[in-house]
Amino acid sequence: MLILGIESSCDETAAAIVADGRTVRANVIASQHELHEEYGGVVPEIASRAHAERILPVIDRALAEADTSLDAIDAIAIGHRPGLIGSLLVGVAGAKALAWALGTPLIGVDHLHAHLYAPFLASRGVPDRDAATLYPALGLVVSGGHTAIYRVESPLGITRLGATIDDAIGEAFDKVGAILGLGHPGGPIIDRLSFEGDDHAHDFPVSTLDRDSLDFSFSGVKTSVLYAVRGKPQRRGAGGRAGAFERDHTDLSEQEKADVAASFQRAAVAAITIKLGRALDRWGADPSLPAPRSLIVGGGVSANSRLRHELAHLALDRRIELLLPPMDLCLDN
Ligand code: KG4
Ligand code: ZN
Repeated sequence: MLILGIESSCDETAAAIVADGRTVRANVIASQHELHEEYGGVVPEIASRAHAERILPVIDRALAEADTSLDAIDAIAIGHRPGLIGSLLVGVAGAKALAWALGTPLIGVDHLHAHLYAPFLASRGVPDRDAATLYPALGLVVSGGHTAIYRVESPLGITRLGATIDDAIGEAFDKVGAILGLGHPGGPIIDRLSFEGDDHAHDFPVSTLDRDSLDFSFSGVKTSVLYAVRGKPQRRGAGGRAGAFERDHTDLSEQEKADVAASFQRAAVAAITIKLGRALDRWGADPSLPAPRSLIVGGGVSANSRLRHELAHLALDRRIELLLPPMDLCLDN
């Protein structure tokens, strides 16, 4: 069974050829980072137009890399939600047209379900693990658009237990990157810079919300970083407009930037591991549920080195298996 998978929900145009639901024979990703860099975030209209230009060349390249042709494709899968509406439309229209022309089935896939399936894919050869033995699982999606915890019974049997009430964790990484003047997307740059910094230089808040909550909030830590970098805003000026800040990132030394990055990363990752611990405690206390066998993680921030490290400790501590996607399958693909 050979499936052509297409993704266009945000700013990556991607196509993959997957055999038997497990083996990735080709994985082509055209990222648009350079188009959105000067705006400090993804501009939806620019993203849609870029998808329209790139989608066919990307599919062609995926077919060539897998050394196959459209005739050999048994079904077409398309990420059809959630995402930027214009970006999704380009992918869905392309996938529908191809499926209609080829007479193959068309399968709509939820982007978040796809992130939680990524650890089961192998780029090289067939993975040896039997996915069924790893369910039920606690699921974590950490990306630029989402931060949520799930109970996962099967690849499609997914129940949300908690989610962010404001920013997604990746969005917070990117905003902190912008505050530090690091470029877009800030997540991977903060990850790298944090190795040079003191993660206890700043005591940024770790939001835990109510004692029983499995939700997340990242807006507080983001504001704390803003004030740490720019100082307190001056008194409001005429007309009630917010006044200027005392300074900006250009006043910080490289070491000071690294200290902010490392301290922010510590707080952001701690917010995740605290909630996962809570979710496991609550799950364990419910006799009607079979115990979780694994922790399945997906989304762009699952590439973060500190998060991967702390999740490994958590899983060891709780005696559950940790399933992280390989680095090349963390981000949108
Ligand atoms: O899953 P993804 O590609 O897109 C969405 O579905 O949102 O995730 C992109 C997010 C961005 O916010 C990016 O900064 C973040 O993942 N990211 C990272 C790292 N690599 C990517 N954040 C922290 N550390 C990283 N190493
Ligand atoms: Zn994603």
